Formats: sequence, C-alpha cells, structure tokens
Amino acid sequence: MSLLTVENLRTYFHTRAGVVRAVGGVSFVVEAGETLGIVGESGCGKTVTCLSLLGLLPTPPAKVESGVALFDGQDLLHCSMQDLRRVRGKDIAMVFQDPMTALNPCMTTGAQVAEALVVHERCSRTDARARAIEALESVGIPDAASRLDAYPHEFSGGMRQRVMIAAALIAHPRLLIADEPTTALDVTVQAQILDLIKARQREMGMAVILVTHDLGVVAETCDRVAVMYAGQIVESARVEALFTAPQHPYTRALMRSLPAAHARGESLYTIPGRPPDLIAPIAGCPFAPRCEHATEVCRAPVSLQEVRPGHCSACTRVQTGDL
Ligand SMILES: Nc1ncnc2c1ncn2[C@@H]1O[C@H](COP(=O)(O)OP(=O)(O)O)[C@@H](O)[C@H]1O
Ligand SMILES: [Mg+2]
Repeated sequence: MSLLTVENLRTYFHTRAGVVRAVGGVSFVVEAGETLGIVGESGCGKTVTCLSLLGLLPTPPAKVESGVALFDGQDLLHCSMQDLRRVRGKDIAMVFQDPMTALNPCMTTGAQVAEALVVHERCSRTDARARAIEALESVGIPDAASRLDAYPHEFSGGMRQRVMIAAALIAHPRLLIADEPTTALDVTVQAQILDLIKARQREMGMAVILVTHDLGVVAETCDRVAVMYAGQIVESARVEALFTAPQHPYTRALMRSLPAAHARGESLYTIPGRPPDLIAPIAGCPFAPRCEHATEVCRAPVSLQEVRPGHCSACTRVQTGDL
C-alpha cells in the first residue's frame, strides 16, 4: 500500500466574484521514502492541493468538494480535527515558501523547533532543548546552543529556512511536504537547502512531496513528477521518462522555456498567453487555448490516462497516438 493515496481531490473557493475551482480533481500517490515533485506555473493549484491535505485552508471560503486522501489507512479529508492535529507535525510535516510568515516572530527559534516534541511526545523542557540543539545542528546552524533563544528576525533568509526544516523534521515525520522551499532563496543557498532535505530524507527514509515551479529542481531531486495545470494534473511519470519523452504539450512547453534549453544569444521562449481564470468553468483541455497542437478534439473533456507504462497524460491527441 502506498504511504499516501489521493483520489479526485477537488477544492473550490466560494468567493463573492464566483467559485474558484483551484483544484479540479487530482489523483496521485506517494510511496514511502520517495520524492514526488509537483510542478507547474504559479496559480495552478499546487499550494491549495497541499494545504487541503492537511486541513490548513480557511473554510470558508475554501471547501474540499470531493476526494479521499488515505495516509496510512486514515482519510485525511474526512477525519476529525483532533485526528488531523495528531498527524500534522508528527507523521506529516510541512515546510513553506516563506519562512518569515510561517515562523512566529514572537517565539524563540528554540521553542518553535521543539514545538512538535512538546505537543506530540510530551517531552520535558530539558529534553526538548537538547533535541532542538541537535536538530538545528543537523541542518547546519553553527553554534546552535547559543541561537536557541534568538528570534526569527535575527537569522538570514537561508538560515530561517533551515530553522523551519529543523522544526519540520524534529519529530521524524514519514512525509514532508515542502512547498517551494527554496523559491525565496538565492541559487547557492537553494542548492544547499535541497541537499539538506535529500540528506535528511536518506537518513530517515522519509517521503517528500516537493512543490516547485522549477523543472531544474525537479530533475535534480525527484523520483516521480506530477505536472499541474489549471488545477489538474496533466502529466505524471518517473522523472527520467518525463525529461526524455514528455507526453503533454504543456510539459514540452515548460521544458522549452528553460534557459538551459536555449542556444547562446537566442531569445528566451515563453509560453504564449496566460493560465485560464479558474472562476470560468473549463470545458475540454485547459491548455488548449495556448497549445500549438490544439484541434477540434481538444474541446471535449479529457482525463489523465496511462499512455506508456507508468506514464500518464491528459492530452487527447497523445492518448490517441496522434501526437
Ligand atoms: N483564499 C483564496 N480565495 C480565492 N482564491 C484563492 C485563494 N487562495 C488561492 N486561490 C486561487 O487558487 C488558485 C490556486 O492557487 P495556489 O494553489 O496558491 O497556486 P500555486 O501554489 O500553484 O501557485 C489560484 O487561482 C488562486 O488565485
Ligand atoms: Mg504556491
């Protein structure tokens, strides 16, 4: 059995302007110990997918309209708040893009790093302090003992991200959800943080969902990838298969937009148009209006289907062997 099985998750926001179909029926699995990348342009529903799983969205306006998310046999979408709190921080931990908004500015780093231990393991203060020092050292914070009583604003951006990772990993979760953990950081720090997550993952055998808009990050860190567009998964595959033989025009367009895919001096390719407004209902393939391969057949509804062993695509033309 997979560690996490998500089926047909739909999350909508009921706003005054209308219903925003942020997540429109996504299904995926995460196996124990593996890294699943969720990749896609900004606004395609990656964060809302993650927050839905942990019950962290404000309801209203958000509402999980359908779906199951089985984690170790327990449906995260339909269990009590109390059960969910037991899972959160202990079995599943989350790291956010912006540590300054995720960390509490009025709480010392030591207290925040140790929080999961105090809440879930009823650790004594002395034990919690000792383990917080260990956790901060393991993420490369020098002189951790003397930094326990410092506040988040006294750290640099990269160091704050390390603090958040230490807090997420201290209770040895089985699944880490990392939502754009390096987007706010400069490139060298970015590589260090990804290496750190990978190293801790290997030591602890933890599974990771890595959310990113950066295909380069996916190539370096993930085992499998789900490509999201307009609230749906349009392609999923093992990482090597995705990069060698992408099976959806959107994925191909994303790859063409990578700076490394360009010859020197050539102007950068960008995908024409913009992702659709999720308030207007989408009939047919959501990418069709921007797709150079779109034809009449793309107006009909389409679902994710296996087109090669372990490789799924939601492109009608790929499914019919036309593309
Ligand atoms: N509180 C909210 N109210 C209304 N719409 C929202 C809210 N939060 C997110 N959305 C919408 O949900 C969609 C998906 O957002 P998000 O999951 O944050 O995208 P991503 O993480 O892929 O950049 C976006 O269109 C966004 O505008
Ligand atoms: Mg996001």
